[in-house]
Amino acid sequence: MHCQIRLPTLAPCWKTGWECSKWQSLRLGASHPMTRIKEPLQTIKELASYLLDPYIEPMHEQSIIERIHEIFSEMALVSGFDGEDAWHQDVQASSGMAISVNEAARCLLDFHRTTQFFKGMHTAILEAQYKFPGETIQVLYAGCGPYAPFLTMVAPLFTPAEVQFTLLEINDESLLTARKLVSELGLQPYLREGYLSDATLFQVPSAMDYHLLFTETMDTALEREPMVSILLNLLPQLRPDVLLIPRNVTVEAVFFKESDLSKGMDGLWELDCQDEGHSLGTVLDMAEAIQEYLALPQPAGKLFHEVQYPMPEPAQRDYFALFTTVEVWEGIFLYKNESDITDLRVRKLDDLPPCDYVNFEYLLVEEPELKFGVS
Ligand SMILES: C[S@@+](CC[C@H](N)C(=O)[O-])C[C@H]1O[C@@H](n2cnc3c(N)ncnc32)[C@H](O)[C@@H]1O
Repeated sequence: MHCQIRLPTLAPCWKTGWECSKWQSLRLGASHPMTRIKEPLQTIKELASYLLDPYIEPMHEQSIIERIHEIFSEMALVSGFDGEDAWHQDVQASSGMAISVNEAARCLLDFHRTTQFFKGMHTAILEAQYKFPGETIQVLYAGCGPYAPFLTMVAPLFTPAEVQFTLLEINDESLLTARKLVSELGLQPYLREGYLSDATLFQVPSAMDYHLLFTETMDTALEREPMVSILLNLLPQLRPDVLLIPRNVTVEAVFFKESDLSKGMDGLWELDCQDEGHSLGTVLDMAEAIQEYLALPQPAGKLFHEVQYPMPEPAQRDYFALFTTVEVWEGIFLYKNESDITDLRVRKLDDLPPCDYVNFEYLLVEEPELKFGVS
């Protein structure tokens, strides 16, 4: 994912309401980043529990995630901001790019993304416990990065008899660091296995054991990163009723003109496809497209998805935007511009030849993306 760091513009949470007071004591009691952290596991557990508050404010999410990042950076010795050359290098998967150790570490700081995926993972494990009573829930975590945050933040809320994690990661430094962090936190009893492999090609040992597949290997509009290829490889190997996080990713295409933006171009980021612009609707529904692709009698090769729509009138189309929505779990969404993985993609359309149709195509190539074309 393209992880940009949001600047901490919000007031620290200890300056606000009473519900922060317990967290305040954790923050104030925290050690300096360069000193040893006292009871790190207990601290992570408490910080993570606060994220489950359904009414949590964004600034509190941010402060909690930043504190977790401080703890993980100190324990894993990877912060995302420095380190060896190898930590800056992406890795090419069979289709899609796996982001570097540093970029994957910085993903943690995309705080609303991390909070929503954390809530999704927690809820999904509870649902899996209900669906598979008496069983230890087995999670296959594809693309764990150096902090494996959806193990290291989630496991402390359960017992090792309740949930077990298997890590799958293409980047050896990321896997090594994740193992180190798991061990430093004392979370080894939750770790079933760690595989160093390309998840777009990996053959999962004892595949039917897994109740839950987790992967956040995506960027906005599903560009560049390999989530689609990972799911196309892993899903057919797992049990048909396996629970998947995220449940779905959809991309909507909207044409608009400058006059649609009541606040001028500054309003672009607030553009609401419900009442402005000319929406084509959902041009890519990942879950549906995966089902269709996997149901094909012959392997479809590199073409994952294509779709064509009539082109709106020239007067309606100065610009074109893609809105990405991630359904992490039921009722837990990341909407347009709420995170780096749902950033808006906008293109000025001043160079279009005469055309009747707009076409979208998603190919499983080295750097996949939803390609826009006209005919
Ligand atoms: C966006 S980062 C997410 C890291 C962490 N899970 C998080 O959400 O903060 C994606 C991680 O998936 C790994 N990854 C990407 N493609 C992969 C592949 N084909 N096989 C295994 N791991 C992959 C990357 O190396 C990176 O560590």
